[in-house]
Amino acid sequence: MEKIHSLSGMMDLISHKTQKEETADKIFYTEEILRNIFESYSFSEIRTPALESSSLFKRSVGDTSDIVNKELYSFLDKNDKSITLRPEGTASVIRAVIQKKIENKMHKLWYLGPMWRYERPQKGRYRQFNQAGIEILGYPEGLAELEIVSIICAINKAFGIENSVLKINHLGNNQTKQNYCEALKDFLIPFSSKLDNKDLERLNKNPLRILDSKNEATQAILKESPKIIDYLTDDALDTLNMIKNTFSDDCDIKIDHSLVRGLDYYTGFVFEAVSSSLGAQDAYLGGGRYDELCKQLGGKDIPAIGMAMGIERLASLVKTYKESKTLISFIILSSNIEPKAYKIAHKLRAVNNLINIDVQLSDGSLKSKLRRANKDNAAYALILGEDELKTENIIVKSLLDEHSEQVTMSLNDIESFVEKIK
Ligand code: HAM
Repeated sequence: MEKIHSLSGMMDLISHKTQKEETADKIFYTEEILRNIFESYSFSEIRTPALESSSLFKRSVGDTSDIVNKELYSFLDKNDKSITLRPEGTASVIRAVIQKKIENKMHKLWYLGPMWRYERPQKGRYRQFNQAGIEILGYPEGLAELEIVSIICAINKAFGIENSVLKINHLGNNQTKQNYCEALKDFLIPFSSKLDNKDLERLNKNPLRILDSKNEATQAILKESPKIIDYLTDDALDTLNMIKNTFSDDCDIKIDHSLVRGLDYYTGFVFEAVSSSLGAQDAYLGGGRYDELCKQLGGKDIPAIGMAMGIERLASLVKTYKESKTLISFIILSSNIEPKAYKIAHKLRAVNNLINIDVQLSDGSLKSKLRRANKDNAAYALILGEDELKTENIIVKSLLDEHSEQVTMSLNDIESFVEKIK
């Protein structure tokens, strides 16, 4: 029979808990760290559905963007409605806030979950990948920008990210963007015969994206092109300098006027963090201000800024980490005493929530169970056989110190022993 495989660019994540080099464990660890950072800045969680109306992304991410043009997982449902697996989280967050009629409140929201983009899979680029993101709604340019960059610094620190640069730019408001796009277009049209098909398409549909071109010939032409800096107000340039000056002691920040984002909804401050340790797909987070989006989607006119990070890319930067809880391996030596022994483990779990108790469910010799406890990096093995149960005792073996002797403890004392484990 033909074997069924996962789809290209989509991974199974299976935790091994204690084999720290495993991708899945690094991913779950990354998610936990990010969740803690978001909560420490007093953000609230939001979860939106993975499926949305296709029109949501066309009207937000933009139908000239690569994401909407080429990468959407879209199909007709049984009612012939076009639906799409979300390629990003921002559009859904805004849709949800409009739908719940809570746009006039201030929000600081975070989310985490899978996204889908039909890209060519390679290292660091998947068709199903996980993103964590934050969206700050209702706050105009200023402090919210500082909060975003502060969180980026916290992420860099928490993951010990090396060779990292935060590229920042300002796109001005919609009018600035439009004026600049027209100037860029006027400049580039005479060079049309020298542009490749992709850049020609961008020239017609979204000239700003040409600045992102990977084509060297295009980049050579762009050297003489109008620059966005000439279209920006002093306020916009002041914002960039203010952000850079505030955090330059914490983070390597570079003002890069060629930075344009791949999604159409941005105006104002935009940014991307890259690390050369990542290889070709070097951006581990990106975002910016999108003050027009809520209105564009039929909601109120509210200022907004946000960012999202690629969990797989961040996880690949994790070197080693410590399991946050101490593991106790609980070994039952005889099948005759299983229910009573299990109930003891069940009670011990309740006395200390800083520990994990793994009751070994398989048959096997004491030797093989101790081997497994060691392999799992357990700090202690608690061993219970018929004799121990009869005398209301349990054996405690410290596994981290190979010279320590095992001790027999009464079942009365074991609770306070476990309670004290950190
Ligand atoms: P984005 O730059 O398209 O922004 O994606 C954010 C991050 O997701 C990227 O920096 C990258 O780390 C990761 N990522 C994107 N595509 C892939 C892929 N195919 N495989 C693995 N990782 C990937 C957004 O999605 C915006 N919604 C961010 C935002 C939030 N802007 C405002 N609010």
